[in-house]
Amino acid sequence: MQTLTAPASTMNDTVDFLPLQGTDYVEFYVGNAKQAAHFYKTAFGFQSLAYAGPETGMKDRVSYVIRQNKLTFVLTTPLKSDHPIAAHLHKHGDGVKVLALRVDDARKSYQETTSRGGRSYLEPTVLKDENGEVVLSGIHTYGDTVHMFVERHNYKGPFMPGFRKWESNYNPTETGLLYVDHCVGNVGWNQMNPWVEFYQNVMGFRNILSFDDKDISTEYSALMSKVMSNGNGYVKFPINEPAEGKKKSQVEEFLDFYDGEGVQHVALATNDIVHTVNELQARGIEFLSIPASYYEDVLDRVGKIDEDLAPLQKLGILIDRDDEGYLLQIFSKPLEDRPTLFFEIIQRKGAKSFGKGNFKALFEALEREQDARGNL
Ligand code: FE2
Repeated sequence: MQTLTAPASTMNDTVDFLPLQGTDYVEFYVGNAKQAAHFYKTAFGFQSLAYAGPETGMKDRVSYVIRQNKLTFVLTTPLKSDHPIAAHLHKHGDGVKVLALRVDDARKSYQETTSRGGRSYLEPTVLKDENGEVVLSGIHTYGDTVHMFVERHNYKGPFMPGFRKWESNYNPTETGLLYVDHCVGNVGWNQMNPWVEFYQNVMGFRNILSFDDKDISTEYSALMSKVMSNGNGYVKFPINEPAEGKKKSQVEEFLDFYDGEGVQHVALATNDIVHTVNELQARGIEFLSIPASYYEDVLDRVGKIDEDLAPLQKLGILIDRDDEGYLLQIFSKPLEDRPTLFFEIIQRKGAKSFGKGNFKALFEALEREQDARGNL
């Protein structure tokens, strides 16, 4: 059953030892960063921001940085087969490597987290160029995923030292994506609670919502989930683990094909989901399809909403309500050939939850896809 533990806004009983200003960037390791950057620009409306590679002194890999409003993606590819990133790609395929968090003090963030048991990924490192300095540090989280702490208040350049501005003649129009709403991790059997404890103890997060296998199950498969939030609520990381069902959980399929724990989906916020999803669909992004029966009684469940139902149904957008308002959401199909990472597009109209009322319809849609791949 769903348990509301404590809203993030009432969690100021202790000093937040890891104050976060939000997501700084999401870095993807990909097989071909040049083409991936083109894809995210074309299909999602990102703009060129910065580039690093052999021409800027980074001899072993290339990174393209793209941006839309407060969303920054970094797409990185190794240049040689013996590079550690090549081994990461061989094992996991394309996926999220870094969930980078903006901080005031990257040295203190590192000290606070590693002294509480966080495993070091990068000791505090100062990067400098003519635009100032960025301080980076990082710790490991689930699987091969890492959190970087980014301190950039003394930096004026486009991204960070080592990168040059990327000017392009190809600048597709934006699609209205604004910022990262939440990032979901899939972890292995019996690993949800250890990772919940990691976020509590090492990063000072709180468990704000819990879903058990009764909430998130269909006739065939199940999963469990706990939502972790930092003190100010800017950063939210739900953690999923598979649960026993008649057939294979979608989380197990992810673990099989990612070959380990990793980021399942990144939820991107918009203020106009109908516009955003119209644009994304017109540019070739595919979403899970929702049966017409979902829309027959959805307004009985969620009550009055500002939007007309017809465009929501046409696009396959889901609706849910909690005590504070409602939300509109839709889930893409995986963005790579392995059935691993996908995106959620979400518009919040007061609601602070994650669409529990849609879980059944959503997971049935996921299972149809999983079945078509022969993995259910
Ligand atoms: Fe989500």
